[in-house]
Amino acid sequence: MSTAQRVIDEVRSFGPKSVITERTEIEPWLNDWRGRFHGSAEAILAPASTEEVAAIVTLAAEHRVALVPQGGNTGMVGGATPPADGSALLLSLRRMNRTRSISAENRIAVAEAGVILEALHHAADGVGMRFPLTLGSRGSCTIGGLTSTNAGGTQVLKFGTMRSLVAGVEAVLPDGKVHDGLSGLKKDNRGYSLDQLLIGAEGTLGVITAVALRLVPAVAARGVVWAGVESPMRALELLRFLEARTNAVEGFELVAGDSLALVLRHVPGTRSPLESEHPWHVLIEATTANTDNDIAAEIERLMADSLQQGIIADAVLASNEAQADAFWKIRDTISEAERAEGQTLAHDVSVPVADMPRFIIDASAEVERAFPGVIASGYGHLGDGNIHFHVRAGSHAAPDWYASEGARITHFVDDIVTAFGGSISAEHGIGQMKIDELERLGPPSKIHALRAIKQALDPLGLMNPGKLVR
Ligand code: FAD
Ligand code: MLT
Ligand code: ZN
Repeated sequence: MSTAQRVIDEVRSFGPKSVITERTEIEPWLNDWRGRFHGSAEAILAPASTEEVAAIVTLAAEHRVALVPQGGNTGMVGGATPPADGSALLLSLRRMNRTRSISAENRIAVAEAGVILEALHHAADGVGMRFPLTLGSRGSCTIGGLTSTNAGGTQVLKFGTMRSLVAGVEAVLPDGKVHDGLSGLKKDNRGYSLDQLLIGAEGTLGVITAVALRLVPAVAARGVVWAGVESPMRALELLRFLEARTNAVEGFELVAGDSLALVLRHVPGTRSPLESEHPWHVLIEATTANTDNDIAAEIERLMADSLQQGIIADAVLASNEAQADAFWKIRDTISEAERAEGQTLAHDVSVPVADMPRFIIDASAEVERAFPGVIASGYGHLGDGNIHFHVRAGSHAAPDWYASEGARITHFVDDIVTAFGGSISAEHGIGQMKIDELERLGPPSKIHALRAIKQALDPLGLMNPGKLVR
């Protein structure tokens, strides 16, 4: 009997839902969202409580069996995909989906790792508050996955990434001990912060079982605008123009003309917000928690001023909530449209904000020159200096384009990012997709420290091996 089988047998005694071995039920969880990584696992372990997670981690250590924590499996770097040799077991947190408490007075919700982001949004709504982080995968991604990847999304400009929104973490460490950081204390200087180490650790330092999350006041009204601009430079100029006049802007997303075209082609029910055509677009969301503020009128006036000053070419204000949602649907389904279109090499990168427009233009031109036939473009969180710089194969590409060209193109892009003083992972993490590039590009001092931390907390190397750090 394999050591993994021993763990499986013991976990089966926790209850009828605690182990899945049916191949058809396991299969969908063995591949990543973009379909680039394919793994294998004898079983999915599905604990229902922190105690059960602790028991599983202890058993795995005893039998030297590796575990791959998994939430909604929407990650973009293959972090939740198990190794192809079947040596690890999947550890799904999806059954741990209770919101343990939610308090408008404390402005804190304590959610278990498997709570789906959208469910947390509804729970916060129910107490007149809001959890401000949001992204296109909100219907499937989990609090555990979001915390473990330090996810960003479309509201980072005002509220920061998960790291700013997590008040505390409960987790099972690789030795099976439970770290309870859920007190939500604003001040706690008892040495190194385990919570901060676990945020963005991608399951390599332990299993997050619950998270205390900061809530903010609910939105009373919003103004959502779609604008056409001639270049990313103009888009950034618009952001600075708005920021100088209002502090209400919380979403500012750049959409390339190419990305809009893909969405219109592949996502049913979408239509271009503007009649006129533009090479670049911006989606802006301005909000207020104050019912007396006419935020829509304010943003409309500012957009008219920016039109008059020649910063934008055209703009339309959503006339109602349904239209605002339709604008956001275009932005949120770009990845889905790309996936439907064909092979796309994704580069989630950041450079200093002021340099991002030049990066987009220069890098696109250089990539298209160096690899004739490909289509390079960027979209996303311009105000955070974070763009999804994606290179598409184009219609002529061979079916094995990823394997034959992928590494060379990604090296090329990552070298440009590095020359700009940027990061090869802005918000998606390293997973298995970027581990070689992280090692190649460093910085060495950071990689040395990451390895030392990993060795100290997980000396047996059983927590999500082959991801983030080797
Ligand atoms: P999974 O994919 O299951 O796991 C992600 C990583 O976390 C893996 O390494 C896994 O091992 C680890 N992990 C999961 N749960 C735990 C746990 N409980 N304890 C320890 N480790 C764990 N990301 C952004 O940052 N910004 C975006 O704007 C954005 N937009 C997206 C849009 C779409 C359409 C999609 C499909 C994805 C998008 N993502 C974005 C990526 C993804 O949604 C986020 O990374 C999300 O945080 C992943 O959550 P998950 O529950 O699906 O995690
Ligand atoms: C987004 O912002 O839409 C995602 O993070 C991009 C992606 O899917 O790569
Ligand atoms: Zn993003």
